[in-house]
Amino acid sequence: MNTKSKYLGLEIDSPIIAGSCGLTNDISNLEKLEAAGAGAIIIKSVFEEQIIYDIKRNLSMMAPVDNYGMSYEYIASHVADDSLGKHFELISEAKKRLHIPIVGSINCYSFENWMTYTKRFQDAGCDALELNMAILPYETTLSCEDVDRLFSDIINTLRKSVSIPVSVKVSQNFTDMANFMQRLSWMGVDGITLFNKPLNVDIDTQKMEIIHAPSLSTPEEIYNTLRWVAILAKKLRCDISASTGVHNADDVVKMLLAGAGTVQVVSCLYKNGVEYMKNLNDGLRDWMSAKGYDSIDQFRGKLAVKAGEQISLFFRTQFMKHFAKIGE
Ligand SMILES: Cc1cc2nc3c(=O)[nH]c(=O)nc-3n(C[C@H](O)[C@H](O)[C@H](O)COP(=O)(O)O)c2cc1C
Repeated sequence: MNTKSKYLGLEIDSPIIAGSCGLTNDISNLEKLEAAGAGAIIIKSVFEEQIIYDIKRNLSMMAPVDNYGMSYEYIASHVADDSLGKHFELISEAKKRLHIPIVGSINCYSFENWMTYTKRFQDAGCDALELNMAILPYETTLSCEDVDRLFSDIINTLRKSVSIPVSVKVSQNFTDMANFMQRLSWMGVDGITLFNKPLNVDIDTQKMEIIHAPSLSTPEEIYNTLRWVAILAKKLRCDISASTGVHNADDVVKMLLAGAGTVQVVSCLYKNGVEYMKNLNDGLRDWMSAKGYDSIDQFRGKLAVKAGEQISLFFRTQFMKHFAKIGE
């Protein structure tokens, strides 16, 4: 039996991937994850704000802004190089020491910076790139068409400037989820990651302050991801990587049955340590052997919504069956 899979066209030994997070920003964790059987690792995202912050901090240590004159651009690009340099050092160290695919991740908000930095990930030796485009549409001036244009402009231009596989990681907030994901897959991306988990905020009622809500997912959060993976698996022209709410090996199996190509995990690694990756792989193999499967492709997508199946009818029927039972 083997658990070989494909991720963005790359051969991997396990469909379970360590998702982008603070844990994947450290070379010793990357080595442990590989030893525990991770199929691939997505490095912590570089956020444009981080680079800009570094630039501003360095400039303010030197002199008042007005004095930079012509040298501003030179200094800013030097600091950006340094800031990204540390990140690229981790990537090249990982490429030297590990054998599994190393995937870069980037989140920018300005079009120009998406272009500049993305190209440099390829030059740093990444096997693929995940664009962390988890945009929360909180601006009242931002329309669906604006979001649409942002995605298509970035993806179309990037496709021309980088040759490594590119995946897009999206948030859970789209009014036209099925339609938009299908159009994204037609834009030529190699994969879509469903979904990023937004950083939630809470309110401390005693101090009357905004505070961070817990950032780790709960096991219940799997259901939204599972629903969309099952709906979209047969409708996209690219791989789906499932993310959010996967906490144990049974969850991994569910995502594969729903049609995910790969499954990303983060919160369960924070809760149980990076070595937990081995439990997930062992559990997947145990389930396959109990069911008599020799390869993932024998059962992947068995429970995905079939092409041509009327999804609305399927969900309405489930809904009615559920409430009929409650009324009994
Ligand atoms: C502490 C922490 C840091 C994260 N950092 C990133 C990041 O840099 N880039 C990114 O795309 N996602 C990031 N994420 C989101 C995860 O990759 C993942 O999509 C999310 O946690 C849901 O998966 P889970 O249920 O397995 O935790 C982070 C999550 C956590 C908990």
